[in-house]
Parts: sequence; C-alpha cells; structure tokens
Amino acid sequence: LKFVCYSNDGVDDHMMCLIGLKNIFARQLPNMPKEYIVRLLMDRKHKSVMVLRKNEVEGGIPLVVGGITYRPYHRQRFGEIAFCAISADEQVKGYGTRLMNHLKEHARDVDGLTHFLTYADNNAVGYFLKQSFTKEIYLEKDVWHGYIKDYDGVLLMECRIDPKLKYTN
Ligand code: ACO
Repeated sequence: LKFVCYSNDGVDDHMMCLIGLKNIFARQLPNMPKEYIVRLLMDRKHKSVMVLRKNEVEGGIPLVVGGITYRPYHRQRFGEIAFCAISADEQVKGYGTRLMNHLKEHARDVDGLTHFLTYADNNAVGYFLKQSFTKEIYLEKDVWHGYIKDYDGVLLMECRIDPKLKYTN
C-alpha cells in the first residue's frame, strides 16, 4: 500500500488517481451529487489523501483503495473533511484508520493545521469517534463559522491533531 496526497495540479498520474477516488466516492456516498464530488475533488483549494495499491492499475487508472478529500484553512489552522471513503470490498480492514492517521500527519506537518472539522453521516459517526473525533466542538465558533458550509441531517464533529504524536510508522 502507498499513501499519497494529491490535488488538481495537472500532473497526469495525480489526475488519474483523483478519478479513481471520484469513482469510490460516487459509489460509497450515494447521497452526494456526482457533480458536487467532482467539483470539490478538482477544486485547487482541496487536497486528497489517498491509499493506493502500489504499482497496480485497472484500465489505466491507479488502483485506489480509498481517500479523504479536505480543504485546509491555513490562517484558521483547521481543515474541513469533505469526503471520506474506502472501497466496499476493502472496508473494515483498518485502512480507514491508517488513512486518517496519514491525513492528520500530513495536515499537521505540511499544512500546519491543529484541528479537523467534518459533517459526519449518521452511519459514519462510529468511525469518526474511533478516530478521536468528538461531538463537542471546542474550537471557537468565530474560527470556523462562515468558512464551512451547513448541511442538514449530518453531525458536525471535531478532532484535535496532536502536535507531537507520530501517527504513522
Ligand atoms: N460505524 C461504526 N464503526 C465503524 C464504521 C461505521 N460506519 N466503519 C468503521 N467502523 C469502526 C471499525 O469497526 C473499526 O473499529 P475497531 O478499531 O474497534 O476495529 C474502526 O471503526 C476503524 O475501521 P477501519 O477498518 O479502519 O474503517 P474502514 O476502512 O472500513 O473505513 C469508512 C471506514 C471510511 C467509514 C468506510 O467504512 C466507508 O467508506 N464507509 C462508506 C462511506 C462513508 O460512510 N463515509 C463517511 C461519510 S461522512 C464523510 O465523508 C464526511
């Protein structure tokens, strides 16, 4: 397995990975309009941390196992997770946890972030709780209010990134 972080930078290989991730999001997040998924994935302010099968391709597209798309707000030092999914046949094998750990380390060490916020689907709240997200929001509201969009039927959750912890090995 290989963990990478790509955004829409015009590099062919990165674009193919983003397409592979788009296909996973489209299947695993059926309530999200496909156009919306594509728009955020291709938005240059968003980044995607992905888990790939090393050197494997399928129809020219690198074999993407899953990923998390987020937008860093550098000045406010938090990131909003927009989408998170692992492909159906690879779920509950621990990849979702490893992916989140890579995201936290990347966001802290590369983007300088201290927190994540996400609107969790009801069925994913358990997963986020296991990744140290809380239902309580400790960040001051004026830090994030007006930056992240409001959704219905989903729960806002927060995670503090440990400033020193080594999340990956
Ligand atoms: N509800 C409760 N607990 C869960 C869930 C869930 N939906 N999914 C995983 N867990 C638990 C696992 O049992 C495991 O617990 P353990 O450590 O005690 O064994 C722990 O969370 C981590 O499991 P992983 O195997 O690392 O998780 P996985 O690789 O399956 O990835 C994910 C989790 C991303 C939620 C995946 O199941 C998935 O893609 N689901 C469908 C799409 C989805 O719901 N995405 C989130 C939507 S919200 C958003 O995108 C902002």
